[in-house]
Amino acid sequence: MKVTVVGAGAVGASCAEYIAMKDFASEVVLVDIKEGFAEGKAMDLMQTASLNGFDTKITGTTGDYSKTAGSKVAVITSGIPRKPGMTREELIGINAGIVKEVTENLVKHSPDVIIIVVSNPMDTMAYLVHKTSGLPKERIIGMGGALDSARFKYRLAEALESPISDVDGMVIAAHSDTGMLPLFSKATRNGVPVSEFLTDEQRAYVIEETKVGGATLTKLLGTSAWYAPGAAVSVMVQSILCDQKKMIPCSLMLEGEYGQNDICLGVPAIIGKNGVEKIVNITLTVEEQLKFAEAAQAVREVNGDLKF
Ligand code: NAI
Repeated sequence: MKVTVVGAGAVGASCAEYIAMKDFASEVVLVDIKEGFAEGKAMDLMQTASLNGFDTKITGTTGDYSKTAGSKVAVITSGIPRKPGMTREELIGINAGIVKEVTENLVKHSPDVIIIVVSNPMDTMAYLVHKTSGLPKERIIGMGGALDSARFKYRLAEALESPISDVDGMVIAAHSDTGMLPLFSKATRNGVPVSEFLTDEQRAYVIEETKVGGATLTKLLGTSAWYAPGAAVSVMVQSILCDQKKMIPCSLMLEGEYGQNDICLGVPAIIGKNGVEKIVNITLTVEEQLKFAEAAQAVREVNGDLKF
């Protein structure tokens, strides 16, 4: 099955690499607007195939969407990333135009496509794709929670001084520094609540470092991260192509779930061959419910800046 990745920059190329390395797709098509860039990235990646042992074919094109025809999944990473000190929300002006145009091109050539939205501000970009693509809501999925949950687990393992494979945890709500909601109440170490092991101070540290995880990396790197975002997308694409039905927190259009309507926000969902197979309702504490509603309010304000 064919996967298209639009934007052959840091995140797009990392995503294509992880998908190819796992060898579950027949073809990955990279698309970029910069002349020759996607073709170059595709060729470089293809030259790793014999070294890394994969058969996935990777091709690149400068904006020829006919090459993407028949894609099962398309990942949108095109747009500008943030620089140190910027919020994701500040990217809306440039990225909204790019995401809208890219979506139109993708749907024209692959009407049955499932779109994974990565470009920031991601919850708002996912909402834009819902409003402009004409695709059913099950086929539009925003990537944020998978990455933020991986960052949460990293910080939990660090605080617990434990292997990462022993910890589990999930981040829902908005993909923003203030709107992220790491579900500490449900985080576990080998099935035991982590509150058994961590002090209030450590709890506050884990939550804060998770929320500013992207900003911390942007400060260190001078631009936003790419390895973990690429890996997070590849897990979502694999769950669709291999119909794994993994439960992954994703930014989805809510119609009453978690008390919200007409908004894309991060919630746990079963991801399989049809895209979103089911939104999973988990019980939140009163404090978590309030934080979820606050995050929704902030995303709604950013959505208000969209022009369709
Ligand atoms: P980048 O600058 O390395 O790559 C973006 C690529 O998009 C560039 O190669 C550019 O030429 C291309 N592009 C721009 N307009 C295009 C168009 N109309 N058609 C096709 N390609 C086009 O940026 P990076 O680091 O890969 O980040 C991409 C986006 O992903 C940013 O908006 C960033 O904020 C977001 N991001 C989202 C994450 C998430 O968790 N949702 C995590 C990390 C990044």
